[in-house]
Amino acid sequence: MKEASVIRTQSCLATTMIGAATLLAVTAGPGAKGGVVAMATVQVAPPRPAFATCKACHSVTRGGTNGVGPNLFGIFGAPAAAKPGYAYSPAMKGSKIRWERAKLDAYLADPRAVVPGTRMTVPGIPDPAKRNEIIGFLEKLK
Ligand code: HEC
Repeated sequence: MKEASVIRTQSCLATTMIGAATLLAVTAGPGAKGGVVAMATVQVAPPRPAFATCKACHSVTRGGTNGVGPNLFGIFGAPAAAKPGYAYSPAMKGSKIRWERAKLDAYLADPRAVVPGTRMTVPGIPDPAKRNEIIGFLEKLK
């Protein structure tokens, strides 16, 4: 019994390093029965945060520099096009948006539908769970 659990621990470690594909192979394989439950609780790698794609263009720290897009610190609840020193599109400047949850959600789902002519020309995020995760992240930037 002792030996078996040692082996299990080792294979868990190896699996953690090798990744999800192996995890599936191991749990699906014969003789893995006893290990399935234990293995399932092992976190392989934290999922890539949904906001990661935004970071290519947006800084998120207080007073962070504007990049391709404006700094997003404190954006939740703030009026659109209000970051000093950033050259917004006329569309964003004239949008009169306040970035409340519903507006952010709509904008992230389809930026050009909410602000026609915006320079943020990224495809929308169709997955509501991902948008929710991003908005939750933005909400904490204060
Ligand atoms: C390819 C670069 C790029 C990416 C990637 C990008 N943005 Fe933007 N974003 C911009 C630009 C450029 C603007 C300014 C748009 C304008 O002036 O019309 C902007 C504006 C915004 C605004 C309005 C800011 C304000 O001050 O009113 C928000 C909110 C925003 N982006 C959120 C996001 C989020 C969240 C993501 C990730 C899902 C993201 N952006 C990904 C380029 C990008």
